[in-house]
Amino acid sequence: MCGIVGALAQRNVTEILLEGLRRLEYRGYDSAGVCLRNGDGRLQLRKSLGKVADLEAKLQERPAEGHQGIAHTRWATHGVPSNENAHPHMSGPIALVHNGIIENHQALRCELQGKGYQFASDTDTEVVAHLIHSLSKEGLSLVDAVGKATQLLEGAYALAVISSEEPDVLACARYGSPLVLGAGIEENFIASDPMALRQVTDRFLFLEEGDVAEVRRSGISVRDKRGDVVSRPVHKLDGGHDVADKGRYRHYMQKEIFEQPQVVAATLAGRIGEHSVLSQALGTRAREILPQVEQVQIVACGTSYHAGMVARYWLEDWAGVPCAVEVASELRYRKTVVRPGTLFVTISQSGETADTLAALRQARALGYLASMTICNVPNSSLVRESELSLMTEAGPEIGVASTKAFTTQLVALQLFCIALARANGLSSEREAELVRALHQLPQLMAAFTALDKIVRHTSEAFAEKNHALFLGRGVEFPIALEGALKLKEISYIHAEAYPAGELKHGPLALVDADMPVIVVAPNNELLEKLKSNLQEVRARGGQLFVFASPKAGFASEEGLTLIEVPDAPESLAPILYTVPLQLLSYHVALLKGTDVDQPRNLAKSVTVE
Ligand code: G6P
Repeated sequence: MCGIVGALAQRNVTEILLEGLRRLEYRGYDSAGVCLRNGDGRLQLRKSLGKVADLEAKLQERPAEGHQGIAHTRWATHGVPSNENAHPHMSGPIALVHNGIIENHQALRCELQGKGYQFASDTDTEVVAHLIHSLSKEGLSLVDAVGKATQLLEGAYALAVISSEEPDVLACARYGSPLVLGAGIEENFIASDPMALRQVTDRFLFLEEGDVAEVRRSGISVRDKRGDVVSRPVHKLDGGHDVADKGRYRHYMQKEIFEQPQVVAATLAGRIGEHSVLSQALGTRAREILPQVEQVQIVACGTSYHAGMVARYWLEDWAGVPCAVEVASELRYRKTVVRPGTLFVTISQSGETADTLAALRQARALGYLASMTICNVPNSSLVRESELSLMTEAGPEIGVASTKAFTTQLVALQLFCIALARANGLSSEREAELVRALHQLPQLMAAFTALDKIVRHTSEAFAEKNHALFLGRGVEFPIALEGALKLKEISYIHAEAYPAGELKHGPLALVDADMPVIVVAPNNELLEKLKSNLQEVRARGGQLFVFASPKAGFASEEGLTLIEVPDAPESLAPILYTVPLQLLSYHVALLKGTDVDQPRNLAKSVTVE
């Protein structure tokens, strides 16, 4: 999704801006642009459809330099991906980049057209550039014009603005879209994600909703939504959040799949003892709140939503606590009934997903017991705005299709479910059994990633297919959903997932020799029921690909390919069986030649509605 970088320094900032954009590439975008103010006060604008590398090529043909500049990667919302619609947008001396969506852009556009402004793009963003220009003509400084403009905007925005008339000033503002300031020595920066600036600083100020900031080389001044001067604390981020390179891997997604043994171990580290989840694992406030929890409402989007669906099975089974799970974009727009004692749990890799954040903000007024987030990014909006947070330790995830973030979410959720179950009478024997299994998880994850070669071989059967069906039962149903999501995201094969028991209520009509049916079949109490469902597929000539351990009693035969996986404790099956499904989608995508890390039309962090 859209990315912002801005810099103000004594040195030329072109390369800082480009490197910032490269570091945001993983978020998904369709065009890029940069605007630099040179020593004579001239604004030099360069934009390009396509990748940051295309923008760099343009800059080589027509170089641009300056000590002050803004840059952007755009993910189209209003107006097609094109040079004209790419940011920065200009209005007189003003250049501006924007993340988010301005909902009242149409009304503002009409007003500004009435004042004689002409529009060169279809974007909502250009409206903001003209608005700031029109206000600055009333004699306001750049930052005051930005502040006044934000009062007229409805929707969500992170803005970074420069003016040819104001040397040494970057003005910025945020509401509903993240924006951070990076503090250097005699130089300062802005970005939509600290990751964009890790090459120049490790000190960051996180702007709050409604903040407007004036960034100069010598210092930063922030005003809050009421216009009062405020000081935002400087956070020093440790090195673990830098963009790792791909190392020996071909793609970030591949690297992230193979990192899973380490990152699940990191998520468990310090949180489990030999036989139990440590009482401090969820933080001191959790110890006070968990005993009061009578039910749980989980809210998330995409892959994180699938993690929530898995947790529902664990919570109701182990803790006997009722749990509802819903996608954030639905929950936030309907009337809900909140029963007393309900814990509101958000799950998010990025901590910035617009719908999840909006659902959390709404929840505050609805009488929930407390809010908790399971999140991978410290200092993200969800972490800052939730009462409790349980961090996953996946490290930066670059591939748009989430892999290690998902399995670490499942690990964190399992810790949460066990802790809540203990508060609800889970026996210490059962807890010890679950925790003993967790101790084996990193090693088993490694054994499951070692299925890579077999899965690569299996993937050949999918390269020419247009559709695929994923089946699971019970807690494996959300894993089937996640497997189908991975396949469609990166290979563009239409994939659907069903609880295997639902097969005969519709999807069976689609089954023929061209429809591969992928089955998640751990050895559990639903196995025999699942086997009967698979007979229904075989009887219609369907091609089965079954992921199962030797104990499940499958054998490869005509129409059934068994991908044998290591035997594992039942409580770990959803986490482990995810791995071969990730590998399957990865290898199918390789065969199809798609852009694995940045699949078309998708974004990593969806900070707009
Ligand atoms: C986007 C990403 C998905 C992710 C979803 C939710 O759609 O492409 O991989 O699962 O957003 O993101 P979150 O950061 O809230 O987990």
